[in-house]
Amino acid sequence: MALSDTAFGNGHLLSINDLTTDEVRSIVELGIAMKADPAAYRSVCAGKTLGMIFMKSSTRTRVSFEVGIYQLGGVGIFLSSRDIQLNRGEPVSDTAQVLSRYVDGIMARTFAHSDVEDLADHGSVPIINGLTDLLHPCQALADLMTISEVFGDPRGRTLAYVGDGNNMAHSLMFAASKAGMNFTCISPPGYAMEPEMVHLGVEDAQLAGTSMIQSESIEDVAGAHVVYTDVWASMGQEGEQSIRLQDFADFTVDAMVMEAAADDAIFMHCLPAHRGEEVSADVCDGPRSVIFDQAENRLHAQKAIMGKLMGNL
Ligand code: CP
Ligand code: NVA
Repeated sequence: MALSDTAFGNGHLLSINDLTTDEVRSIVELGIAMKADPAAYRSVCAGKTLGMIFMKSSTRTRVSFEVGIYQLGGVGIFLSSRDIQLNRGEPVSDTAQVLSRYVDGIMARTFAHSDVEDLADHGSVPIINGLTDLLHPCQALADLMTISEVFGDPRGRTLAYVGDGNNMAHSLMFAASKAGMNFTCISPPGYAMEPEMVHLGVEDAQLAGTSMIQSESIEDVAGAHVVYTDVWASMGQEGEQSIRLQDFADFTVDAMVMEAAADDAIFMHCLPAHRGEEVSADVCDGPRSVIFDQAENRLHAQKAIMGKLMGNL
């Protein structure tokens, strides 16, 4: 089966940057509808199979996709890279072609972003990026759903991300401008977002008429409606944990940081969280925190993504 260039996201979800603003809005709206009435969607992927390749650990992504495809009438197959021939040197391109003969879609969590691009280039089924070192689009789409639940139309709101200029920062930057939100990324010196991603993010923001600000001052959370953070050392960076603890020491989201944000500001984190590092326990578990709504919405947003890519919704 050849994927159509006119299909949702050109047939894949590798980056939010590849989606139109309408496509982003449609995922959020469909996720909200699926959450409200899950029974109405239980045949959307009837008889379909999702292959789920994991080269890194996962709780939320694995479980939300596996439960999600089941709730849509299909089945998920968990493929740990430890157990499949990828681990013994079988090329990603061969894996893509072989799996495409069996399954109707592939969700992959990899280190190199080029691996999910290779899956898309060589496979013939939709590829969903379940996190790479560069991007985490599924999380950011679910987060837009959570922001919309709290604020209604998010246009004109500001999302301040505090921390490493990592996969989460990049995908939140793209998600924000597609949703008409302003985005501020506050990172310690040396930990800003990738210049190539920033270039695309600035272009997106200009098109959307939103702001995209990079800062090294945590005071720039002032007035933000969403304060978001992520771990200081991502998967694969465990060896840098101790130096990062020092470099990020002044970038903890605590009660004072939240006080500087808007009166109705919420705290967000993709999880897993390290209380006492990137966020204080009182903020992480406090009244402004929506972290578990975010985690729940992974399920609904993932179902919306599969419905669009695999279920022709
Ligand atoms: N937020 C997120 O992607 O969590 P997992 O690593 O548990 O999948
Ligand atoms: N930046 C984190 C996100 C985890 C969901 C990581 O890549 O480990």
